Amino acid sequence: MNAAASTVLLTGGCGFIGSHQAVVLLESGHDVVLVDDLSNARADVVDRIEAIAGRRPRFIELDVRRTDAMADVIGDHGVGAIIHFAGLKHVRESMERSIDYFDVNLAGLTSVVRAAERCGVRRLIFSSSGSIYGTAGALVGGAPIVEETMPNPTNPYSHSKWICEQVLERICGVEAGWSVIALRYFNPAGAHPSAMLGEDPTNLISNLVPVLMEAAAGAIDAVPIFGADFDTPDGTALRDYVHVMDVARAHAAALTAVDTAGGFEALNIGRGEGVSVRQLITAAEVAVGRPLAVDVQPRRAGDVPSLVAATDRARKRLDLDDYLPVETILADAWRFRQRRDRPLG
Ligand SMILES: NC(=O)c1ccc[n+]([C@@H]2O[C@H](COP(=O)([O-])OP(=O)(O)OC[C@H]3O[C@@H](n4cnc5c(N)ncnc54)[C@H](O)[C@@H]3O)[C@@H](O)[C@H]2O)c1
Repeated sequence: MNAAASTVLLTGGCGFIGSHQAVVLLESGHDVVLVDDLSNARADVVDRIEAIAGRRPRFIELDVRRTDAMADVIGDHGVGAIIHFAGLKHVRESMERSIDYFDVNLAGLTSVVRAAERCGVRRLIFSSSGSIYGTAGALVGGAPIVEETMPNPTNPYSHSKWICEQVLERICGVEAGWSVIALRYFNPAGAHPSAMLGEDPTNLISNLVPVLMEAAAGAIDAVPIFGADFDTPDGTALRDYVHVMDVARAHAAALTAVDTAGGFEALNIGRGEGVSVRQLITAAEVAVGRPLAVDVQPRRAGDVPSLVAATDRARKRLDLDDYLPVETILADAWRFRQRRDRPLG
């Protein structure tokens, strides 16, 4: 553990990825501070993190756009590095609430950076997204996308993430001492192996794995398939699903890397394997032990046939081991869905 990064601030730390991150960092000896406005998370996540890790993170309910209060949190808790997860994340919703998406995602980032700068903290990991590549994925014909590919986002959400990366790269270019790693996650999914933490949004359920789990639990009648006529082996879209615990481990490695890196770099975080919607449904059926009804619908505007990460750079840079397989992602997600509504203990 690096002393300079021993207290880590996780914005959006009560959310899906942030809560798993908190467990990984507490278990490796870091002190952890969570800031979250609970717009898409439940406060009892803090109890769940403590129950798994055996230590309680500090939690402050706060909107990251409140710069003065953010600076107080960073200064008062001796924060050495920040992982900025907080943000709005739904592609579809961003088409209807574009101004909210730019406000929370862009103004949220600049607020965190300003507060950090005021406190002399210049180490940041940023939650970016594989979706920034957009149609650039189609141009490489379904082949894994390398980080040098020029992004071409197709919706306000992805666009906000791409602008955030550009802002961070520019800040690193002109302000002394900043070191930033943007992790472009492809499709994080799954749950903690204890089944006490998982993807449990209070807002919208739109990612495919939680939708599959809702269908398996009988909460929805059928799994929607948006487009079965893409130019892919079975006609459904190819995506790159990566276990949330692997995403959290990647951040832990990035925290070490960001201490010495200096400047800005972006890394893809995915397994590097395209899995079609139909393949994922079949794997979910194995995990839950019964068939799931599907409902084939037209393609949605902006959906691209394939988004698969080239993973070499992240594997080398962060010294990552093999990623967990899709079967584990679905088995863990299903165990979490079955346990989700039960009280702790
Ligand atoms: N899950 C994915 O599929 C995925 C893929 C690529 C990138 N990302 C990015 O990773 C990050 C984390 O994603 P997640 O899946 O954990 O999402 P999430 O919604 O579960 O977590 C985000 C957290 O941020 C909080 N938040 C939102 N606005 C805030 C604000 N203004 N101030 C303070 N807290 C605020 C929410 O309450 C939530 O707990 C997001 O930035 C997201 O865009 C996610």
